[in-house]
Amino acid sequence: MDITLSVIKADVGGYVGHSSSHPDVIQRAKESLKHAKGQGLLVDYYVTTCGDDLQLIMTHQQGEESEQIHKLAWDTFVECTNVAKSLKLHGAGQDLLADAFSGNVKGMGPGVAEMQFTERKAETIIIFMADKTASGAWNLPLYKIFADPFNTIGLVIASNMHSGFKFEIHDVLKAKKVFFNAPEEIYDMLVLMGAPSRYPVKAVYHKESGEIAASSSTQHLALIAGRYIGKDDPVCIVRAQGKFPAVGEVLEPFASPNIVQGWMRGSHHGPLMPVPFHQAKCTRFDGPPRVMAAGFQLADGKLIGANDLFDDLAFDLAREQANDIADYLRRMGPFEPHRLPLEQMEYTTMPEVSKKLASRFQDI
Ligand code: F6R
Ligand code: MG
Ligand code: MG
Repeated sequence: MDITLSVIKADVGGYVGHSSSHPDVIQRAKESLKHAKGQGLLVDYYVTTCGDDLQLIMTHQQGEESEQIHKLAWDTFVECTNVAKSLKLHGAGQDLLADAFSGNVKGMGPGVAEMQFTERKAETIIIFMADKTASGAWNLPLYKIFADPFNTIGLVIASNMHSGFKFEIHDVLKAKKVFFNAPEEIYDMLVLMGAPSRYPVKAVYHKESGEIAASSSTQHLALIAGRYIGKDDPVCIVRAQGKFPAVGEVLEPFASPNIVQGWMRGSHHGPLMPVPFHQAKCTRFDGPPRVMAAGFQLADGKLIGANDLFDDLAFDLAREQANDIADYLRRMGPFEPHRLPLEQMEYTTMPEVSKKLASRFQDI
C-alpha cells in the first residue's frame, strides 16, 4: 500500500508564555483532523505538542505537497489560533506568516516533513519533534544514525544497509540542494553538514533501493519572515528496522545531548534534552531545548501509537548531562559562545546601540 506521512507543525500560541500548549488548542486540532478523517481525506491522524509547538501527524494517499492536505493543516492552525486568541495565549498565531493560504504551507510559516512510501510488512516509524531550536538540530543525530558505525553497528554487520545511505543537504541561504553518498563522501559532506544553521539535512535515502529513510522540516522562519518571529522548532521522520537502522540505533545519538542553537530568545547555544511527552515544557531560561520521540507502527496507514520512546530510564543520564551542560553554559550569561554570534541572534539591539554610540567611536 502506498502511503504518505505528513507532519506539519506550527506555534499558534503558548501557555504559559512560550513554555507549552493549552489543552483547548490541542482539542480543536483533534476535532479538525477527526472531521477530515471522517470525510476520507485522511487515513489516520495523531495530534501532539512539544513545548509551544502543535504537531499534526497525518497519513493519507494524496502524495507529498498535496494542496488539500496543506490546506487542511493551514485551516486547522487558523482555527487553533482563534482558540488561542480567545484565551489570550501568548504569541497567538505566531507562525502563521501569511494572511491567506496559497497552495502549499511551505514558505508560509509552518514546518513540514513528508514522505511517501510503500508500507512494509511491518512499518516502524519514529517522529522526532523539538522545541526551542532550529532546523539544523537534526544534522548531528542524522549523521550518527545513517553514517557513523560507532553509533549504528548495522552499517557494519547488516548486509541490507552495508552499502550505506545518501544524504540530501539544503543550502537555506541560496535555496539549493546537494546529494552525498555515505560513507564514500563523508569528508566533503561534513564540511557542509557540520554547519547546520546553513546546511540542514532535508532527507536521507537507502542507497541500494533509493527508498526514503528520513525526512525533516528545513523551513527557516527567520529567512521566510526576514526578521525574528521564533525558532523553527523542527520535526524529523525516520523509518526504522529492516534495511533501515534499528529503533535503538535511531535513538542512540540522543543519549549524548548535542549543543544546538535556540533556547532563550532564539539567541543561545544549549543542550538538546531528550524528554518524555509530559516533560516537553520549556521552563528554565525558556528551555533548555527539548526533543521528543514518538514511535509508531503503521497498519494500512493507521497510526499504531504513539509510543513515547524517551520515556525510559535509559535516557535519564542524558537528561542529567543536559542539565549539567545547561547549568555550565548559563554561567556565561550574555557572552559567546553561550550567546549566539551577532549575526545569528534572533533578538538584537545592535542597530539602536550602534546608532547611539556612533559619535563615540574613534580611530585606533
Ligand atoms: C524562543 C522563545 C522564547 C521567546 C521569549 C521572549 O524560541 O520562544 O524564548 O523568545 O520568551 O518572547 P516574547 O518576545 O514573545 O516576549
Ligand atoms: Mg512560541
Ligand atoms: Mg516553539
